[in-house]
Amino acid sequence: MKPLTLLLLSTISTTLLANPSLIEQAKKAGLKPIPTDKKELSKLTDPKGVITPQRVELGKKLYFDPRVSKSGLISCNWCHNLGLGGVDGVPKAIGHKWSPNPHYLNSPTVYNAVFFKRQFWNGRSASLEDQAQGPIQAGVEMAMNHDLLAKRIKSIPAYVDEFKNSYGQNVKIDLKSIANAIATFERTLVTPSRYDDFLNGDKKALSTQEKRGLKTFIDKGCVTCHNDIALGGSLKPFELKAKYKFRDVGDFLKTNKMIKVPTLRNITETAPYFHNGQIWNLRDAIKEMENVQVGYKVSGEKKSHNLDIKIMPISLTKTDINDILAFFKSLKGRKPTIIYPQLPESSVNTPKPITDSK
Ligand code: HEC
Ligand code: HEC
Repeated sequence: MKPLTLLLLSTISTTLLANPSLIEQAKKAGLKPIPTDKKELSKLTDPKGVITPQRVELGKKLYFDPRVSKSGLISCNWCHNLGLGGVDGVPKAIGHKWSPNPHYLNSPTVYNAVFFKRQFWNGRSASLEDQAQGPIQAGVEMAMNHDLLAKRIKSIPAYVDEFKNSYGQNVKIDLKSIANAIATFERTLVTPSRYDDFLNGDKKALSTQEKRGLKTFIDKGCVTCHNDIALGGSLKPFELKAKYKFRDVGDFLKTNKMIKVPTLRNITETAPYFHNGQIWNLRDAIKEMENVQVGYKVSGEKKSHNLDIKIMPISLTKTDINDILAFFKSLKGRKPTIIYPQLPESSVNTPKPITDSK
């Protein structure tokens, strides 16, 4: 080979090394796409191999069925509306008897919740199966008690058949199996987006500005907390740099220092933002993050004891914010087609709704 070619080759390879592609940078920073391969995806959404079409269909019915609540009026979809990005669009959740969430908590989206390491704003639940039992019983949400729930569902013959078909003849229809079916349906609520297409190798899937936004998002340290498949979903410290300006709305921050980082997937559809839903505008939400949080970079081996943690105050120019906003639009996912189910009819034995209203 001629010396010039050699020189050129070595320049090219050092440039490559010095400038890893944006896709590589994103992956190195801990961002992961929703896999396109069905098998790879089901390893993540269904590690125990529990999803069957029958269970998903049953879970979908129960998800939409208001009879799962004491009043017979409130379904999961009431607060996690699948036609509205999986949320209710109000600052604090409103449940049984028009009760507000006592801690002034906003309803998080159920889309992609299967990828979260922790569920609930304080991360108190680790799985969807466990999580789904909470709202059914919560007095301010569906206010249902265990016995009444089992009686209601068992009194509806078509549900009993569907439970047997889905879980076997000896299935016990109770809070646990009902929550299990609902959670199985939730496992299917994943929304791949143009961002995933990009990370999966389609370089044209993002516009130039969206790519710049992704790079800014990485370089400014947002990925410290908004990472993995959900761009969130694990517990992280909040108010690292300053106090959140609406910290006194509700009492969540009186008892919690760590917050389950909300997913940024479909973020343009899930306003209002933050745990108490006080910020309506996405631009303002990004600015508040800039004020409140710091990013950090860890260098050195993870296993070693002398971790070198570099704290980085986040500072964003107007262009940075515009670029991040553009990038956020690319996180809007393709939703699964959900046909609103016809729910099986009640029988003469079905316990009546109790609305507790005057
Ligand atoms: C009255 C409104 C309301 C109803 C009804 C309701 N939820 Fe929720 N949901 C919330 C709120 C508020 C939170 C956050 C509560 C907390 O962190 O303490 C939440 C949290 C969740 C989460 C955790 C998501 C995350 O990001 O942490 C999932 C999953 C979920 N709900 C699913 C369901 C299912 C399934 C049902 C039906 C069985 C249901 N919800 C009924 C309001 C509601
Ligand atoms: C140290 C961890 C951390 C860093 C760094 C961080 N965030 Fe957050 N982010 C959080 C937590 C925790 C919340 C939830 C706060 C709350 O609900 O009160 C959040 C909330 C958000 C929200 C509102 C989401 C919603 O649905 O309510 C947006 C938007 C957001 N962050 C964007 C960013 C951007 C952009 C950056 C970088 C400039 C960033 N974050 C950096 C932890 C972090």
